[in-house]
Amino acid sequence: MSVLVTGGAGYIGSHMVWELLDKGEDVVVIDNLSTGFDWAVAPRAKFVLGDIGDMKLVTRVIEQNSVDTIIHFAGSVVVPESLEKPLEYYENNTVKTRNLIQVAVNTGIDKFIFSSTAAVYGAPMTSGPIREDAVLNPMSPYGSSKLMSEIMLRDTADAHGMRYVMLRYFNVAGCDPDRRTGQSTVGATHLIKIACEAALGKRSNMRVFGTDYETADGSCVRDFIHVSDLAAAHYAALNFLRQGGLKFTANCGYSRGYSVLEVVDAVQRISGNKFPVIRDQRRPGDIPALVANSHRIQSRLSWTPRFDDLDFIVETALAWERKLEGIRPAVAAG
Ligand code: UFG
Repeated sequence: MSVLVTGGAGYIGSHMVWELLDKGEDVVVIDNLSTGFDWAVAPRAKFVLGDIGDMKLVTRVIEQNSVDTIIHFAGSVVVPESLEKPLEYYENNTVKTRNLIQVAVNTGIDKFIFSSTAAVYGAPMTSGPIREDAVLNPMSPYGSSKLMSEIMLRDTADAHGMRYVMLRYFNVAGCDPDRRTGQSTVGATHLIKIACEAALGKRSNMRVFGTDYETADGSCVRDFIHVSDLAAAHYAALNFLRQGGLKFTANCGYSRGYSVLEVVDAVQRISGNKFPVIRDQRRPGDIPALVANSHRIQSRLSWTPRFDDLDFIVETALAWERKLEGIRPAVAAG
């Protein structure tokens, strides 16, 4: 049997593929390469270029590869972009997920792991760590598009006997400690990636969006989780389902927040480059503080974080950013 990873050419998906291969699993990837890269897919995985909304294609891939589990990463992930292009987010994240779940039902898939997000909580009532039973009140089309998919998956699972895990990611960063893959997105908007690009001179400065929030230093606060810990959490989720687990929804974070300014300081310190930082207006859609309460995942899945260390996250992100300089020209030339 094999595991289907949608979005396996993207940032988090490509780490998941390595995690599965390292554990001896057979893996097939579907990705339309809208933001991912075929070279990011580990060579031992089978890669199919295509769209997860294409029900015929997905059916064929599942049947031909004896897939019994879907880990679904493919989707659009930028909060501010979702405010400008809501229908694109509902199409990519909700409509296509609906098609994928339909194919899963048709083909008898009984294990489904879904990439959800902290954005489903919206602006939490508390500035402290958020529990999974907090009110779900997304404040962006991105968060809404993911919450709709959570609801579809829950209802379909109840009706058709499918078992599922939904993991709500907080801020994912860093790269594979062995540097086999990393965050390669062109035109990335995520904080640590942007700061690393500035540190390596790929951009002349960076902006901090909002320093007048009601937080300790006025900038937003986020819970940064290392991408390899996140991939390991999915593997623990897979084992939970294999051992008969029925349904599970959990936050993925470290229960600890860092401010945007603290992150920028860390990147400057570790890179040794005090690049210019511009204090700018607030960015639409930003939530002041988002920190996970990660008690549930740590107590119910066999998962213990290995890289709960902002410096390590930044070191690996910087290392990948340097490695990308070598990969991109080769890809462009080839
Ligand atoms: N930021 C800057 N300057 C930049 C980039 C980002 O100040 O150049 C700030 C943002 O304004 C925000 C913080 O850094 O305050 C984090 O922004 P990101 O764009 O890195 O990430 P988001 O918090 O917007 O979103 C991410 C994921 C979502 C997830 C969310 C949960 O993309 O999927 O984290 O915390 F829901």
